[in-house]
Amino acid sequence: HRHLLGIEGLSPLDIKALLDLADAQVEVSRQVEKRKSSLRGRTQINLFFEPSTRTQSSFEIAGKRLGADVMNMQVASSSVKKGETLIDTAATLNAMRPDIIVVRHHAAGAVHLLARKVDCSVVNAGDGAHEHPTQALLDALTIRRNKGRIEGLTVAICGDILHSRVARSNMILLAAMGARVRLVAPSTLLPPGIARLGFETFTSMSEGLKDADIVMMLRLQLERMNGSFVPSVKEYFRFYGLDQEKLGYAKPDALVMHPGPMNRGVEISSDVADGAQSLIREQVEMGVAVRMAVLEALASHLPNA
Ligand code: CP
Repeated sequence: HRHLLGIEGLSPLDIKALLDLADAQVEVSRQVEKRKSSLRGRTQINLFFEPSTRTQSSFEIAGKRLGADVMNMQVASSSVKKGETLIDTAATLNAMRPDIIVVRHHAAGAVHLLARKVDCSVVNAGDGAHEHPTQALLDALTIRRNKGRIEGLTVAICGDILHSRVARSNMILLAAMGARVRLVAPSTLLPPGIARLGFETFTSMSEGLKDADIVMMLRLQLERMNGSFVPSVKEYFRFYGLDQEKLGYAKPDALVMHPGPMNRGVEISSDVADGAQSLIREQVEMGVAVRMAVLEALASHLPNA
C-alpha cells in the first residue's frame, strides 16, 4: 500500500503485519541504542486542520525516532486562513516534494481526496466521523499485548458512536480480527441501521457490558452535534458514564480503554480512568510504536527505498 487512508481496505494479514512491526517498535522506542534511521533523508509533513494532542505529537515523535525531517504545518497561521482550498494547499506542499503527509481534517473523505492530488504517501490521522486508522491499530496493539489475542474477545464500545471515527475504525478492525463487537449507547448516538451490519447494539450499560473483556469508552463529541444533544452531561454520566459500579458488569479482569481526550465526569469517572484496570496511558505509548510501524511500512514503498 502507498497510503494508509483507513482500516477499510486492509486485510487481516495486513493488520497483523502492522501490529507485529509495531510490537517490535515498542522495544526500539524504549531503548535509545536500538533506534534505527530508516526514514533518514525523508520529509514528513503533519497537516492538522483539527486540534490534536496525542496523534500529532506521536506522529512527530515517531517520524523523528526513525530519522525523518518532520515539519508541522501551523494551519491556524497558514494561508488556509486566507481562503486557500484544501486542494491548493495540498498542491503547494506537494511541490516541495515531501515523502509522507499525515493529515487530519474535519470532513469525511477529505484525506482520500488529498491523496489523489499528491505524489507522496498519505496517512489519515482522522477525517470527520469517517476513519482514524492509526488509533484503531494502537488500540488493537494494546489489547493484543494485554490479552494475548484479539480473536474471541468481547469488546464493548460505549458512548457517542454516531460521531466517532475511532469507533468506526475499531469496529472494522476488531470484526476483521475475530472479536465480538458490541455497541452500547443511547439510541440517538447509534448510527442508524448499524445492527444490520452484524454489530450487537445495546442501550443499557448493564446489558452491554455483561461479560465484556474490553470496555472502550468514547468522548461525547458535542462539537459535532450543533447543540442538538438533549440530556445534560450529568444525566449522561448517570446512565452511560463508566464508574466502578458499571465496570462491575464486565468480566472481573476486564480492561478499560479511552482514545482521549477524556472528559472526566462525563463519559468516565476519574477513579476508573486512573484505576488498575485502565490501559489509557499504555494506549498513548502504543500510539508512538504504531505510528513508527506505519511510517516505516510506507517508507519501504517510497521511490529509492
Ligand atoms: N485519540 C486522539 O486522536 O487524540 P488527539 O485528538 O489528541 O490526537
